[in-house]
Amino acid sequence: MARRSTSFVCQSCGAVTAKWVGRCESCGEWNTIVEEQTGGGIGGGPGRASKSKGRVVQLVGLSGDNKEAPRIQTKVAELDRVTGGGFVRGSALLVGGDPGIGKSTLLIQAAAQLAHLGHKTVYISGEEAIGQVRLRAERLGLADAPVALAAETSVEDILATLEADTAPALLILDSVQTLWTDQVDSPPGTVTQVRASAQAMVRYAKKNGTTLVLVGHVTKDGQIAGPRVVEHMVDAVLYFEGDGAHQYRILRSVKNRFGATDEIGVFEMTGKGLVEVANPSALFLGDRSTSAPGAAVFAGLEGSRPLLIEIQALVAQSSLGTPRRAVIGWDNARLSMILAVLEARCGVRFSQHDVYLNVAGGLKINEPGADLAVAAALISSLSGLALPANCVYFGEVSLSGAIRPVAQAQSRLKEAEKLGFDQAYCPEGNLKDGAASAFKATGLPELGDFVAKLSA
Ligand code: TYD
Ligand code: MG
Repeated sequence: MARRSTSFVCQSCGAVTAKWVGRCESCGEWNTIVEEQTGGGIGGGPGRASKSKGRVVQLVGLSGDNKEAPRIQTKVAELDRVTGGGFVRGSALLVGGDPGIGKSTLLIQAAAQLAHLGHKTVYISGEEAIGQVRLRAERLGLADAPVALAAETSVEDILATLEADTAPALLILDSVQTLWTDQVDSPPGTVTQVRASAQAMVRYAKKNGTTLVLVGHVTKDGQIAGPRVVEHMVDAVLYFEGDGAHQYRILRSVKNRFGATDEIGVFEMTGKGLVEVANPSALFLGDRSTSAPGAAVFAGLEGSRPLLIEIQALVAQSSLGTPRRAVIGWDNARLSMILAVLEARCGVRFSQHDVYLNVAGGLKINEPGADLAVAAALISSLSGLALPANCVYFGEVSLSGAIRPVAQAQSRLKEAEKLGFDQAYCPEGNLKDGAASAFKATGLPELGDFVAKLSA
């Protein structure tokens, strides 16, 4: 038996301290340190007595048969896109997201799809009874799918059940916070338990060539162990995001050992479960009012996919000493920077105005290429003149006021063209590399030129 000891573990980041403290020194969270029994661990760790010699192999000597990682496609195109072309056998994925966002729904749909394609799939729920999972499947019209269901939370029981039969191609564990192993004394949901349980399950998946999908809840207050500690153990981390007020959900890959990150899949939550959205640009531009000042369409890029998003700005006379700046869906600091560049380099003044910026549809943009669209929306709102309805904007603005080229200008322009736009303002540098199409694209070297063009 492994030697057990007590330590104090932060439930937010997993840092270990020798004594209890009110605030974790590692992540700065308050009240997250919990006393836990550590040591032991399944199949090894400090308690293992016998040691056996390992074997090293030469990289060059490894056979090159598997040029591509063997993958199972779910035929849910948006999911396959995010995983980089399907689930890789023997890999482990973590699907994180707020409670109620639709993780269980997405995974039961994917499981049913794979089962229909003839792959053995097992769905183990630690949160819902089998009856509830069945009810949901029925509501989704998937009750006839040959998915094996189990309601189980003990890792030892799960492993015993799985090992009694052939290994499944896909194993879903919903959720990782409910798992517990009796090798560890801490209560379920604590970092030590989550880590030990996930490790045991990942080991099973690697050994048997099963694709393991772990579901994890993200909590803001860190009361139950966030799936953050699991992120290091898995091959891919997908986040399911969206906001309650909107019907669509975005699956985003933030880590992927077998594919690109920042890839997104777009779904819409309907009464019949999640439906893929093949053309998200149309969705995000859906209820656009083209005549209102302050709205600019950004031709963006999410992963490898071009996406058109409306950026809305409201610039209003301020009655406050320090005018307000509020941003939803974009970086606050980035807005301040654009405002400063507009003031300092282009003579457009916002110091007497409140500025509100919103990215339509609840999307979050991280790309600096949105700078030009933001500037366009700000200037349009300030001047009270609507921008042309058939025009898109993209380009990164530097502190000097220069407009820097962005990646994949061509595919952005193509997407815009597909959706009926026929004009674009973009960085001059992007037109130099032959990126212009039949489309009327205007290349800009400086933000000042842009301001001059808009006010002309
Ligand atoms: P769920 O998959 O249980 O979320 P999670 O596993 O991430 O906690 O989804 C729950 C929400 O989805 C719930 O609020 C209701 C909604 N929903 C629909 O709108 N339509 C459906 O067909 C289903 C199954 C759920
Ligand atoms: Mg769930």
